Order: sequence, then C-alpha cells, then structure tokens
Amino acid sequence: MIALAEARSNIALVKYWGKRDAELNLPAAGSLSLTLDGLVTRTSVTPGAVEDTFALGGAPQDGQALARVRRFLELVRGPGGAPARVESANNFPSASGLASSASAFAALALAATRAYGLELPPAGLSALARRGSGSAARSVYGGFAEMLPEGHAVPVAGGEGWDVRLVVAVVGGGVAKDVSSRSGMDHTSATSPLFAGFIASVPDDLAAARAAIAARDLQALGEVAERSALTMHASALAARPAVLYWRGATVEALHAVRALRAGGTAAYATIDAGPHVKVLCTDATRVAAALAAVPGVTSTLICAPGPAARLL
Ligand code: PMV
Repeated sequence: MIALAEARSNIALVKYWGKRDAELNLPAAGSLSLTLDGLVTRTSVTPGAVEDTFALGGAPQDGQALARVRRFLELVRGPGGAPARVESANNFPSASGLASSASAFAALALAATRAYGLELPPAGLSALARRGSGSAARSVYGGFAEMLPEGHAVPVAGGEGWDVRLVVAVVGGGVAKDVSSRSGMDHTSATSPLFAGFIASVPDDLAAARAAIAARDLQALGEVAERSALTMHASALAARPAVLYWRGATVEALHAVRALRAGGTAAYATIDAGPHVKVLCTDATRVAAALAAVPGVTSTLICAPGPAARLL
C-alpha cells in the first residue's frame, strides 16, 4: 500500500535541548511548541521495493540521510519487513534552522505506519516520530503542543480564535548549518557548565507557557519564549568549545525586536539551532517589515498556527 502524509514544522516556545537517553532519543526535559502553517513536508512511503530508497525534493539521497530513514522504517516494519521507496518534499529550505526534521519525521511516522498497515493513536505516533527527531513528536499535533519528558507530546490548545503569528526572519539565505541540533545539544550537555541551569529553567517555563496560552496572553507567552531561547543559547555558548549558531544579523534582529517592543508593538524572539530569528507577534505585517529592514536578513515569512499531521 502507498501512503502519503503531510506534517507541518513547529517552533519551540519552551526549548528542547539535551537528551537523557541517546538510543531512545528521550529528552532531558519537556518542551512546548507552536505548529506552523506554511512550512510543510509531504512524504510518501511505498513498500515492496528491492531496497530502501529515499529522495528529498526529487534528489536521491544516500549516506547518513538514507541511513536515518532506513533506521526509522525498521522501527515500523520490524526485522525482515519489505524495503520501501520514500519520497519527501519540503516547501521550505532543509537543514537551515527551520526545523525540517520536525515536519519530516512526523510525516514519515504517519506515512510509514499506514503503509505497513499500522494505525497508532496520536500519543503512539508522537513517540514514534520522536525516534527520528525529538521535535517531530510535537508536529503530530496542530496548534500548541507539549512534549512530555516521558517521550511523547500532547496537545495543549489549537491556534483558533487567536491571531498569533510567527514571523521568520531568514538570516544568510537559508544555507545548511554546520552544527546539527543533535550534535549541538549533545556537546552542550556534555561540556557546558550552564546546561544544568537551562534544564532547571524548563519546568517553570512550561507552567508559565501553559498559563499564558490558556489566558491567550501574548506578552506572557512571548516573555517565556524569549527567555527560554536565550537560556538555551547561553548554555550552548558556554559549551567547550562554544556552540555558536548566531550571525551578526541574528543579533541585529534581536535588537529590532526590542525596538518594536519599545515602540509599543508586541514582538518576542526565539532562535533554534541556526541563525534565523522567529518572532511571536500579532501585527505580523509591521514585524515582518521591521525584520526585513535588518541588513543580513534575506527574507521573511509569516506563519499562522497550523493543523495536525494528516494522511492525504
Ligand atoms: O528535534 P531536533 O533533534 O532537531 O532538536 C530540536 C532542537 C531545537 O529546535 C533547537 C529546539 C526545539 O525544541 O525544537
């Protein structure tokens, strides 16, 4: 059976950074995210091939990319299961800090389970997606989702009825980053004297984020998001040697966000394992214009809350 699924990327407002079990890909702490419309991966899985193949955006993949997909398929089909052809396409740049692994493994989890005749409940699908990428566990759901330290995500609230937006300021044209989130977080947890401080900050940030979402309080949610991201990056910067994802334009975009706030526009920044700055706001047009004016910001993208992963 051929199965085709799509999933959206998500951006963490309370960050995931560090694992407690590398083999099972279990997180050291919880995290909380917003699934985004507009950043979509579509993936088809067709069992019955001679060997596993994986094409991304039409280009055949080998090496690590293929090995990662094969390992994931083996979790689904078990030993001796039929190899499959996997075809995937993103409508946004891969490996650039726009969280393509989140949408990729959520879409692959859904397409692969269906192609091999399994139907998992959302928590099971989320736990499976986690094995591919921690953040993928959250992309199974639409709107706001929380990853539990136990290893699967749960829905927190849909994005409906709240005109919250996330503006992505792409820094440096979306070229592939040089340190993956996986190696960046492993190195941070192994060497950074500030890593324990980041992990200790997560439970309070999760509680504050949940309360802010329930109250539809953008300022409260934005303040949590910005401090969680900066605490995560502080821990990475203190690793030995430092893990530095920021470019000059990243810092200038953070200043632009502060200037927007000083001028009365609600805007709060978050940054993942890359140079881009993502800004939580409601007046997305004004925020996007301010970010586009930052030298080194090569494009901006306005994203609304997106729906759950689904079969097509
Ligand atoms: O899911 P991974 O292994 O690519 O890690 C994601 C890490 C961050 O994007 C930096 C934070 C997060 O919670 O998504």
